[in-house]
Amino acid sequence: MMMAGTCAARPAAAALALCLALGLLRAFVPGAAHGAAAQRPAAAQASGAPMGMGEQPQESPLLGAATRLLAGAAAAGLLAGLSAGAARAEIEDVAIPVDGKGKTRNLSKEELIRGKRLFNVACGTCHVGGGTRTNQSVGLGIEELSGAFPPRNTIDSLVDYINAPTTYDGLKDISEVHPSIIAADLWPKMRSMKQQDLYDISAYILYQNYVIPEKWGGGKQYY
Ligand SMILES: *[C@@H]1O[C@H](CO)[C@@H](O)[C@H](O)[C@H]1NC(C)=O
Ligand SMILES: *[C@@H]1O[C@H](CO)[C@@H](O)[C@H](O)[C@H]1NC(C)=O
Repeated sequence: MMMAGTCAARPAAAALALCLALGLLRAFVPGAAHGAAAQRPAAAQASGAPMGMGEQPQESPLLGAATRLLAGAAAAGLLAGLSAGAARAEIEDVAIPVDGKGKTRNLSKEELIRGKRLFNVACGTCHVGGGTRTNQSVGLGIEELSGAFPPRNTIDSLVDYINAPTTYDGLKDISEVHPSIIAADLWPKMRSMKQQDLYDISAYILYQNYVIPEKWGGGKQYY
């Protein structure tokens, strides 16, 4: 896969660049440092180090500074590359089931952020961490969602649920007990919700199940 390729290549390239740069420095600087030995006290003075502490053989200040600078830059570049790669891998490499027929979607970072924000505003109080405050045995973990009737483990079925929620066994309408679109007159936060909002909220719920299954959906054995 392309993503994995660039991700692996980036640290290698950074490491190679660092090695090359250090190699070049080692090749050139020691000679220069010996030749410039008379300049050392000046450098020490400039850096505020007391004079007369020259008994210990010192690393060339130039080489030391350059090494630290290069190592710092390389480490920073490596970290930035790695975390950007990891974040992208997490979001875009997760296929979220859309319907019960095998259709899936990979979210973009923007969709995920949107879903998370909407979830936190509209659902987060009762479903903190994917649990369900009023009944911990029907949290938003994948097992609970899959065990409902009809199963609520796809984007479409969750959107359907938020439009017109039913009991876990699917037998009763609970739109006046659980926030819903069909009873939006009772649920102020649901009045401005578009179907796209429900979609993004649902996708976020399922994404959390794939990425942090051990933390999402309180009421499981992990808690
Ligand atoms: C979507 O995620 C799956 C892994 O779940 C991955 O195999 C696939 O390549 C991803 N698709 C895209 C377009 O990134
Ligand atoms: C929680 O939900 C389950 C499944 O619908 C139900 O069997 C159980 O009675 C509920 N518990 C409470 C305390 O409402």
